[in-house]
Amino acid sequence: MRLLLAGDDRAAVSALRSAVGAAGAIAAACTAEPADVVAVVAADPPDAVVAIGGNAGTLRTALDPLGLDMGPEVLAVEEIIDGGGAFGTTAARRLRALVERRALRARQTELEAIVAAQAVSRRRHDEEGALDTLRRLALAAEYRDDNTHEHTQRVGELAARLARHLGHEDRTVWLVRQVAPLHDVGKIAIPDTVLLKPGKLTREEFEVVKTHAVLGARVLADGKSEVLGVAERIARSHHERWDGSGYPDGLAGEAIPLEARLVHVADVFDVLVHERPYKEAWSVEDAAGELRAGAGTQFDPAAIAAFDELGAGSWTTG
Ligand SMILES: [Fe+2]
Ligand SMILES: [Fe+2]
Repeated sequence: MRLLLAGDDRAAVSALRSAVGAAGAIAAACTAEPADVVAVVAADPPDAVVAIGGNAGTLRTALDPLGLDMGPEVLAVEEIIDGGGAFGTTAARRLRALVERRALRARQTELEAIVAAQAVSRRRHDEEGALDTLRRLALAAEYRDDNTHEHTQRVGELAARLARHLGHEDRTVWLVRQVAPLHDVGKIAIPDTVLLKPGKLTREEFEVVKTHAVLGARVLADGKSEVLGVAERIARSHHERWDGSGYPDGLAGEAIPLEARLVHVADVFDVLVHERPYKEAWSVEDAAGELRAGAGTQFDPAAIAAFDELGAGSWTTG
């Protein structure tokens, strides 16, 4: 066992040092000055610091300023010397027990950190697997649609930028970016005659197209990862409207999942500014005007405000 004796009374320090040595421990010594103790501990960490002169509390704070229960145990000399004032075998045993308890606590903290790190790594692993599957699914969906890979990626990019601008956590922004491209995955199940039809759809055909939201959500349902959960919410609710007149559930306002509200704005904008079999490409200004006009009815007003603040001009790429 290695002790650091911190005290300004040289005679007391020296006497304790011999007693400690006789009891089989190794003792170094320094002044009771906190800066001195911190420097000696940093250079050669002992198992425990023994404060001689009633400043154990000050030294404890100096050595562990954040109260993280780290560094060596700090004991007042009164805690370890015998009733008779000597450092005998009882004192040595008591000191050893204290040091061991400290070491055990440190080991426990270390083990907890390892368990937490393993949980994070397992989650990352699961998530990677889910994302890999989702990307393949998105690719399959893109083969079925009239658009290219670029539309879904642009929607992911814009929705994530809106989320970031609205101050959402990095994790939310990342999730939106990853899974927004899957918003139309349900179109896999929509017949070509309807999906690829040039010109206007009949009422019945439009009803068929509308089923892509529920079908997509069904494909993504009951996933175990958070990624799949967000993907499912987006697939199901990206055609809901702020005023409750959207589909498939007629949700309104904040009852519509946030991620889906953002994807709705991004999706509509991107479709407007690009050519489709049934329409010409709109100018960015016209599309932005359409979005503004729909704030509070079709779109989440906060999302439209974020869109405006970001500047419609920044969405012209692609
Ligand atoms: Fe859709
Ligand atoms: Fe889309």
